[in-house]
Amino acid sequence: MNATEAMLTRRSIRSYLPDPVPDDLLNKVLEAGTYAATGRGAQSPIIIAITNREVRDKLSALNARIMGTESDPFYGAPVVLVVLARKDVPTHVYDGSLVMGNLMLAAHELGLGSCWIHRAKEEFELPEGKELLESLGLDADAYEGIGHCILGYPAGEAPEPKPRKENYVYRIA
Ligand SMILES: Cc1cc2nc3c(=O)[nH]c(=O)nc-3n(C[C@H](O)[C@H](O)[C@H](O)COP(=O)(O)O)c2cc1C
Repeated sequence: MNATEAMLTRRSIRSYLPDPVPDDLLNKVLEAGTYAATGRGAQSPIIIAITNREVRDKLSALNARIMGTESDPFYGAPVVLVVLARKDVPTHVYDGSLVMGNLMLAAHELGLGSCWIHRAKEEFELPEGKELLESLGLDADAYEGIGHCILGYPAGEAPEPKPRKENYVYRIA
């Protein structure tokens, strides 16, 4: 699968098998994330790769609380890659978003399902989120949560994409 094909065929997956993601695949996805372009090459983002069930479940509960539900916002996915980025870098939200894009495309190319799950910003403003960062020796106040890329083997077919809207592209030739 080439890059363009991956971009056109990737879909958000919202149902997962409980099977773990092998480490070699996970490492490839993570490496792709680290090669995203970043403003001035500052590499402002970090990726926290969570495969520990207890930590994954705690984060899911925190995300659900922010959303005001009790269901699992991570749709049963066994892996959660949290992307955060340094607030003091002016391009940090763009940088982190591009990392998210790389992660999702690499996952797709490797036969894994993925989905961007929101509310990382709110999560890491809460004491529970800050504690998680501090447990890794990070300065919790220096980072803004950008998104969660959930990963796993899809439990079923990928959905069809919506047709692209009219006037998505304006050409000036
Ligand atoms: C910034 C952003 C936030 C998103 N947040 C969520 C989310 O919290 N939960 C979810 O199920 N999907 C989320 N998505 C996935 C979108 O709903 C999905 O990309 C969109 O419906 C298009 O589907 P596709 O990815 O299959 O093309 C998010 C996507 C983006 C880019």
